[in-house]
Amino acid sequence: MAMYNTKVMEHFTNPHNVGEIENADGIGTYGSPVCGDMMQISIKVEDDVIVDAKFKTFGCGSAIASSSMATEMIIGKTIDEALSMTNKQIVDELGGLPPVKIHCSVLADHAIKSAIYDYAEKNGKTYAGLEGFDPNAEEDDHHHDIEEEE
Ligand code: FES
Repeated sequence: MAMYNTKVMEHFTNPHNVGEIENADGIGTYGSPVCGDMMQISIKVEDDVIVDAKFKTFGCGSAIASSSMATEMIIGKTIDEALSMTNKQIVDELGGLPPVKIHCSVLADHAIKSAIYDYAEKNGKTYAGLEGFDPNAEEDDHHHDIEEEE
């Protein structure tokens, strides 16, 4: 476990925002093309601000730490601010992840965008940050573990 820093271990052993929001305004599920693990994020939105976010995952410890951190980061942010967040910011906020685990942060990042996409679709909204985003894009076979940023 020495490859993980204290902050990652903290979020892994005591993750924040685990679960699913009842009557969520948006739910996004994403499967990693790299490892096949799954992530679900649900969000509650009021006046374009994400007031709550929760996650459930069939993912590894890095995915758990990333989603714990990522949900913390988006709560209180506007949709536009949340959409501009990258997986690199999640990794930086965690104090780093081993290179082979960067894709686990992508899982969190994509699941958040998928949840916002769901919210936007249900409410007939459009956001610049969603342009070109395909929630089902896991089929394409890119394997850019390191630089997979939006
Ligand atoms: S190895 Fe699959 S999310 Fe980390």
